Formats: sequence, C-alpha cells, structure tokens
Amino acid sequence: MSAFLGIDVGTSGTKTLAVDERGKVLASATETYPCRFPRPLWSEQDPDDWWRAAVRSARKTVAGAGLKPADVRSIGLSGQMHGSVFLDRNDKVIRPAILWNDQRTAAECAEIERRAGGRAKLIKMVANPALTGFTAPKILWLRNREPRHFDALRKVLLPKDEIRRRLTGEYATDVSDASGTLLLDVALRRWSKKLLAALELDADLLAACYESEDVTGRLTPQAAKLLGLTTDCLVVGGAGDCAAGAVGGGIVAQGILSASIGTSGVMFVHSDEVKIDPLGRVHTFCHAVRGRWHMMGVTLSAGGSLQWFRNALCRADVLAAKRANRDVYDLLTEEAAATPVGAEGLFFLPYLSGERTPHADPDARGCFVGLTSAHTRGHMVRAIMEGVAYSLRDSLAIFEQLDVPVRRIRATGGGSRSPLWRQIQADVFGRKVAAISTEEGSAYGAALLAAVGAGAFTNVEEACRAVIREVDRTSVNRKTKSYYDRAFPVYQQLYRSLKDDFKSIAAL
Ligand code: XUL
Repeated sequence: MSAFLGIDVGTSGTKTLAVDERGKVLASATETYPCRFPRPLWSEQDPDDWWRAAVRSARKTVAGAGLKPADVRSIGLSGQMHGSVFLDRNDKVIRPAILWNDQRTAAECAEIERRAGGRAKLIKMVANPALTGFTAPKILWLRNREPRHFDALRKVLLPKDEIRRRLTGEYATDVSDASGTLLLDVALRRWSKKLLAALELDADLLAACYESEDVTGRLTPQAAKLLGLTTDCLVVGGAGDCAAGAVGGGIVAQGILSASIGTSGVMFVHSDEVKIDPLGRVHTFCHAVRGRWHMMGVTLSAGGSLQWFRNALCRADVLAAKRANRDVYDLLTEEAAATPVGAEGLFFLPYLSGERTPHADPDARGCFVGLTSAHTRGHMVRAIMEGVAYSLRDSLAIFEQLDVPVRRIRATGGGSRSPLWRQIQADVFGRKVAAISTEEGSAYGAALLAAVGAGAFTNVEEACRAVIREVDRTSVNRKTKSYYDRAFPVYQQLYRSLKDDFKSIAAL
C-alpha cells in the first residue's frame, strides 16, 4: 500500500498522522514538550525537543498504522510559523528558538519600518507590516542584543524546516511559511532582495523556497533508520500550520473562511489574487495552494487563554478529571454552559501574550473586566470563550471592510470540538458555522500535501474535494446574536480605554 505522513511541529507538541492514497486517516500520535517563558512576554523552545517528538510520533504512527517501511512514500511538514532557529556553520543551534508569540522585538520592528522607508513602503514590498512575532525582527534582535551569537549565525530556519534539515540534510522552506518571516516578496513568491538589502541581511542566511507540494529532498540514511522508513521517502515543502490547517479544512477556494481555535486563533480566508490590507491589520501570505494567496487575522492567545486558566487556576480539577477519566476542558465548559449568555456582564480580553490582530500591540495585557461577587468560575470560562470569539470577530469585521468575500465559515482547531464554543462563534459572528468531517488540522493538511507531492492527487484542490466534507452546521440563535451585537462594541471599547494603561504597566 501507499501511505503519506504529515508531521506538524506545534507549540504544545508534535503530531504525526498517516493517510492512505484516498486521504483516509490510518493512525496518528502526538508527543508533547514544554514552552519556556524566560521573561514576561518572551517565549522559547528547544529544537531538540521538536526533533525527539517528531521521531517518536512518526515511529508510533507508522507502527500504529501497521505500515511497512517502503509503504511511506512521502512526508509533508507543517509547523508553528515565524519561529527562528539560529544555526552556526556546523548546523549547531546557537540559542533556544524564539517563537511566534514572543514580544521582545518592538524596537526591531520600528528599525525595520525605518530602514524600509516607512510602513507603507514596507507593506508594498512584502505585503505586511513588521510585527513582533515575525522572523525578520528576531534576526535583527540577535544582531542588536546578542552580537556574539549573530557573528556565529549562518542560517535561520523556521521550526518545521529545522526538522526537514534533520530529515533530509537540505535547507528548504515553502512559500506559505516563508511569508511569515517578513522577508518574502509575497506577490512574487520569492525572497525580497529589496528588503534584505535595506536590512543589510545576507540572502544566504535563508533557505531555498518552494511551493508547498514540491519535493524538497529525500530522507538521509540516518533519518530513514531512525524513523524506520527508506531513503526513497520524499519530503515535500509543506506549509506553515495556518496554511496546512486550511488545506486540512478544505479552505482552498474563494469565499470559504476557517475560524480556528488552537493555541492561537486564526481567521483564514483563501484568495485567488494578492489582496493587501493597506493598514496592515490582517496578514496577506502565500497559500499552500500553488499560485494562490490567503489573508488572515491572528489572536495570539485563543485556546491558549483557556489553557492558561486551566494551568493557573484549576490544578486540582485536572487531577480529579484524570481520576474520573474525563477531559478537564469538558468539565470547565459544562460549568460555562450553565451560566447565562454574556456571563452577566463579565468580559475577558484575551491579550495574554500581547495581541496581533487587530491591535498589533506587544504591550496589551489579558484582563477580566466587570467582575462582581456573584460571578463563578463558570462565568469566567464563558467570558474567556466569548472574549476569544469577539477577538475573532475583529478579524471578520476587517475582512468585511476590505470586501473579502466570506460565504461560508468552518470552525476548526481543538476549540471547535466544543459545541458550546461553536455556538458562541455562530452567535458572535452572526453566521452559520460548520464543522468538518476530518478534524485533524495541520498534520492532516501536511499529509495531503505529501500525497499531492507524490502524485496521489493531481493538485491540492482535488485532494480537498475528495476528502473534506462539512458536517454538523451550527445555526445562529437570533436572541443571543442580538445580545452579542450590543456587547461587541463594549468589548472593542475596552481595549481603547485600557491601551494607555497597558503601556504604563509595561513601563513599570
Ligand atoms: C500565525 C501564528 C500562529 C502560529 C501558531 O501567524 O503566529 O498561528 O503559527 O502555531
């Protein structure tokens, strides 16, 4: 038989998934690792953790699916975007990777805008403004703050591309993930010589850039041995986790939008042409579909907000849930479901890691606003779920202003497993929200890209048509929608009211 693997290097763990030539999931396995926060709003990981998790999850998946080594014809990679793996001339990792939700580079973002001749010129060059989580400001941060490390620097790779290097020996990336470095000319789908020159960065620091379905190499003998596969196994370009997740959710045609709640929350819409927000509030990146683009808005702490609440405040419940063989998130959302819509005036701003869309503000902070002594934990969980949905609506509102067609919305990511969160999304967006048949996310999209690259499907669109279906549409509750329509401007005003206070807090 023929099988294809998708390996998704996520923030909380790496997931490998195997599909057959019809896109049917055969097996999957996830291995987790920690994220380190050495200072407030810094966020780092060790690429060795990713590698161990990739190897283990791949071995488990191959064994779980009962595959023989030669069955696996290709691998597609996906991963958390924007992270910087700094390598020296011996391919040794110089310092821990700086992640997508790290906010240390505000000064470097200002430097990039200045060197590019202003924000408008920068957006013209690379379709996006400089945002703290992107890769280019991290390279400048290394040059400005850790010059010894910068002197040793020979290559900068994105997280999934570091795994590719260890699998194939090649330095390669794909256009969707490369878009999030800020160094890609997104319209032309190649590195921006202009911006590299303005930043005085050597193009040799970067990997070769491919379309997502293109073959970038084969497994080395060592990697093949470690994974229990053969050196005939191809590795395709793959995609950043947002674009790979979109392929896994069938967001490959104009008019379909995915609202994804993972650690981050992503509103992702396909575009046949390059369309750019002149204000730079939403991103324009290359899609994992050849010659196509997408726009997206990102809430940095979406599922991450609920995860924070669980970790910081529900330790005993995590243990109790384990003993009762239940998922602690199910227990928490049951408590939330028992509280009224709007959590009796309690609001949550999900800015635990600063915020990207629509504020691009590294100093923004998370808050509960409106607490009274009548509020329970269930109210707080509901407020978190509603606050995340409002934040996603901020992105939807920008797409509407830009006349980006949105005819259908699909809820994806771990958060979409909760019927309550899907209902809140439908009511906050004022639109029907569908779940999809294969809720396997970015790893599934990466496996489909691997299958396309190995010739099992003609192209990405055909693969998606063959395997992805909408199921379980959640309709809008008119009464709840009308409440959220009144509450949304209050939510939006809270940021404006607190913006200066966030700056004062950051300056303390
Ligand atoms: C996208 C982004 C996040 C990470 C999370 O721009 O920063 O969605 O990719 O994995």
